[in-house]
Amino acid sequence: MALREILTTPHPALRTKARAVRHFDQQLQQLIDDMIETMRAAPGVGLAAPQVGVGRRVIVVEYSEESDLPEGQEEGAAESPPKPPKLYVVINPEITRHSRGTELGNEGCLSIPGYYGEVERYEWAVVKGLNRRGQPFRLKARGWLASIFQHEIDHLNGVLFIDRATQVWRAEEGEAMEAMAGD
Ligand code: NI
Repeated sequence: MALREILTTPHPALRTKARAVRHFDQQLQQLIDDMIETMRAAPGVGLAAPQVGVGRRVIVVEYSEESDLPEGQEEGAAESPPKPPKLYVVINPEITRHSRGTELGNEGCLSIPGYYGEVERYEWAVVKGLNRRGQPFRLKARGWLASIFQHEIDHLNGVLFIDRATQVWRAEEGEAMEAMAGD
């Protein structure tokens, strides 16, 4: 595995529609492993192949439930131990169904360092795709996980969160650590 360079705006690769994966070969496996390592090192909660300069429809998402504590629950006060983060690798992802309702949330992006924005996303979405062996599956994501999937799938279409944000702000020095981890 190897770390790959994360491209930042205004790199044109971030604005190019990615092409579907057709071959589940060694090159793809290497790309997926590198994307996982790069996402974790950043650190981020998601990464799309165009962010590392590969114009293919591949996303990785790693989501930890402890990042999304219920309203009013203090960090560390949880009675049950935090669940380990769950890793998702989705090839050729598509949203096949989604909620009517939307909600606003704060997002960042590893390709737009230092900026955050308030973005409206579907409350839940069903994502259909292929796993790294090319087998079809689908999952239903809610809340923040649903937002992450919508954000990453946008990357495959050359869309960035700043295109959808109702407002964008620059993180103050020191504030970046507290803000939501970029994806
Ligand atoms: Ni992003």
